Amino acid sequence: MKTPGIVSTISELRGQIAQWREGHELVGLVPTMGALHEGHLSLVRETQKHCQKLVVSIFVNPAQFAPHEDFDRYPRSLESDADKLSTVGADLIFAPSVAEMYPAGFATSIEVGGPSRGLETDFRPHFFGGVATVVAKLLIAALPDYAIFGEKDYQQLLVIRRLTHDLGLPIEIGGGAIVREADGLAMSSRNAYLKPDERRIAGTLNVILKDTTAKLRSGATIATAESGATAALIAAGFKSVDYVAVRDASTLERIERLDSPARILAAVKIGGTRLIDNMAV
Ligand code: PAF
Repeated sequence: MKTPGIVSTISELRGQIAQWREGHELVGLVPTMGALHEGHLSLVRETQKHCQKLVVSIFVNPAQFAPHEDFDRYPRSLESDADKLSTVGADLIFAPSVAEMYPAGFATSIEVGGPSRGLETDFRPHFFGGVATVVAKLLIAALPDYAIFGEKDYQQLLVIRRLTHDLGLPIEIGGGAIVREADGLAMSSRNAYLKPDERRIAGTLNVILKDTTAKLRSGATIATAESGATAALIAAGFKSVDYVAVRDASTLERIERLDSPARILAAVKIGGTRLIDNMAV
């Protein structure tokens, strides 16, 4: 058990990283919005394979929530997050205030095209602008050698890879495999919103995606697979399906056939909660 230090300003973060750099240590960054679960801890463990020193940022980023979304009720638990991080040996927590990340007069936003088009953007048009801006700021603040993002937000991972490449940031972007509950539900801080009956239905999302993937592999067309999965999700009790889509795994462009690596991605609503999941086809 090693209790990580906590800093809240970019200048303190840079000061600590500069000290590590003097000892020629490789630095990793795990950006999070807190409410940490096993999925985040697996990102920490993966990053430790690449770096000697590890920073976890915890910042609930207002710019990636629309006014009607859950910014106010998003779980915040810095103390228990720090306890969890001490069990995996994180070195430093960067937990800035909103004013530190968005000082008065802040007027810059980063817009990424390419993989941010469609899917999440059709339903959360504000989302990737907010993510790209805060992630660019975090990456530039820490300038780590390696940063990791979970594959649960697969489109986000591709958007961040695009952004890092396009801005020429000398940072390797890793993707962390999805960590799931016993019934297959992808771990997410938002799972805490689910009532018991919703939680039971939520577990079927992954089962239906797996089943759809099996059908695709045995020859179902993409259109049939997508519409079959949508019908199965509604029958399982989800309130609505934002999308179920089979796309090219590296560009997220629409595809007609499965002749290159593909990914199935879905977003559904249950009660007041929106869930996403995806898997390789
Ligand atoms: O995936 C998340 O938790 C967030 O979108 C991120 C990447 C930390 C940016 O706020």
